[in-house]
Amino acid sequence: MTPTLTILGIESSCDDTAAAVVRGNDILSSVVVGQIDLHKDFGGVVPELAARAHAEKLDHCVEGALQTAGISLGQLDGIAVTAGPGLIGGVLSGVMCAKGLAAATGLPLIGVNHLAGHALTPRLTDQITFPYLMLLVSGGHCQFLIVNDFDDFQRIGGTIDDAPGEAFDKTARLLGLLQPGGPAIEKAATEGDPDRFPLPRPLLNQPGCDMSFSGLKTAILRARDSAITDGNLHLQDQRDLAAGFQAAIVDILTEKTRRALALYLDNTPETPSFAVAGGVAANGAIRDSLQNLCRDHYTAFVAPPLALCTDNAAMIAYAGMERLRNGQIDDLTLSARPRWPLDDRAAPMLGSGKKGAKA
Ligand code: KG4
Ligand code: ZN
Repeated sequence: MTPTLTILGIESSCDDTAAAVVRGNDILSSVVVGQIDLHKDFGGVVPELAARAHAEKLDHCVEGALQTAGISLGQLDGIAVTAGPGLIGGVLSGVMCAKGLAAATGLPLIGVNHLAGHALTPRLTDQITFPYLMLLVSGGHCQFLIVNDFDDFQRIGGTIDDAPGEAFDKTARLLGLLQPGGPAIEKAATEGDPDRFPLPRPLLNQPGCDMSFSGLKTAILRARDSAITDGNLHLQDQRDLAAGFQAAIVDILTEKTRRALALYLDNTPETPSFAVAGGVAANGAIRDSLQNLCRDHYTAFVAPPLALCTDNAAMIAYAGMERLRNGQIDDLTLSARPRWPLDDRAAPMLGSGKKGAKA
């Protein structure tokens, strides 16, 4: 039997400073300190501010995570840290912190790909078996992955421009709704008519699983301008535009997921499973549509709890655990990588989210 490992995870690749202790499939603690206030006046994450804040907060997060877990450094089996992709200053802060701890304790140091952390989360939460299909859909990520093993990810499609969360946020701004845009649009859409404004479904007429969301944003801008009367966007117009936008996103994600599922199911996996993660997966309309699609294809639908879908360090600890179990560790030469595609075989994507280029 494999021994149960206890791992400290550290995450600082974007605008959340996080530390967590995970033992086997149990999350003993998970501390996440966000930076929304720090960046709110700038319309996006300012890398230099983010890096400084990470450097200030990391020690406290690690201390807090160990304390809540009731674990001392000596009781750990390893230290896992996000080594990329992400904003380089932030990633460096985390890697330096982890190296210091590893050097002081002699514990194994494990560099983790942030996207692998997201992609392996359904194994932490639901213990699903390989291979499974994954859709990462957030403010910074949008890609389909067939997860064959803890270190074998096949990217079969993704956005060629914006991430969907970014499109939700920008559209909310155009419609005068609050940030973050996703929940605000979802709420407004409940009272809206999705068919009133004809909006495009970019790339749906093209084969494959790639997606595009930036054209949709431009279409919303035009539709909004056409709806404005007396210099105002009236409440019902705002609701109808929100409903139309959300319906377009649902259609795109559902149709592209249908194609991704067909590719995945082609290899007749023993226990077909589809997992969705990322902030946008909180959207009820998107979730329902994907869940129905999976039911039609006799595929299990897994959506980890939201706190584990968004950036956190428990996923990094868990991904590090899978590497350590398989004898993959790093040494003090571990470097921080701003770009680190999960699947080296796939062509690089152009897209970069509001939170910086991710893959
Ligand atoms: O995964 P996440 O917390 O952060 C990263 O991007 O890494 O995702 C945040 C994104 C935001 O763009 C937010 O607008 C979107 O997820 N989001 C939603 C909903 N809740 C959050 N989008 C659509 N519907 C929602 N209910
Ligand atoms: Zn992330």
